[in-house]
Amino acid sequence: MKDNVFVFDHPLVKHKIAILRDKNTGMKQFRELIEEITTIMTYESMRDVELTPVEVETPLERTVQYKVREESIAIVPILRAGLGMVNGVHKVFPTACVGHIGMYRDERTLEPREYYCKLPEGIAGKTVFLVDPMLATGGSATDAISALKSRGCKNIKLMSIIGAPEGVERVAAAHPDVKIYVSTLDRQLNENGYILPGLGDAGDRLFGTK
Ligand code: PRP
Ligand code: URA
Repeated sequence: MKDNVFVFDHPLVKHKIAILRDKNTGMKQFRELIEEITTIMTYESMRDVELTPVEVETPLERTVQYKVREESIAIVPILRAGLGMVNGVHKVFPTACVGHIGMYRDERTLEPREYYCKLPEGIAGKTVFLVDPMLATGGSATDAISALKSRGCKNIKLMSIIGAPEGVERVAAAHPDVKIYVSTLDRQLNENGYILPGLGDAGDRLFGTK
């Protein structure tokens, strides 16, 4: 794997992923797990986030401490399934603004189609957490990153719960400046572009559409 790819190897994440994959896990628990895993991933992916010195007065003395500028963070879910990860980042940064990029995969060609894009003002200067639970062929994430770059974004991190090796490599090669965080790397894609072992269709399981 390339240098810009980070795969989580945490027992707690493994435990939650096992429940997430189970076809008998219902919509409510599925949604909660996506959120919880995202929160854990956010801690790790924030490791290199920029800190600003601030003066704080404790009950005993003045001290210089360090804070993340909350207005410097933006969350951009790829619709639909990325919506399930927004609250997970908001648990850590409740004031991060949210942009939306709508993409769907053409079921025949598997090529992504952008149908919506609404981003917060000043997005170019922010650290953008692009979120989508599934990184399959990598087409949607590659195009979403290009869409963000075309609007001036320079500091982009991609967070996905499950990645297929083909998709992760495609995004890493197309955008070597973007850090890619996946909580687990699965075996392969099947002939329909679904991740194996995977968890099925993340959007349908999150929103109960099938
Ligand atoms: C899923 C998923 C990703 C995309 C991944 O969305 O949430 O956005 O597929 O596939 P790729 O890496 O091969 O591009 P889908 O197109 O099913 O839309 P949905 O979220 O509206 O269900
Ligand atoms: N999108 C999903 O929701 N699941 C997959 O396995 C691949 C793409």
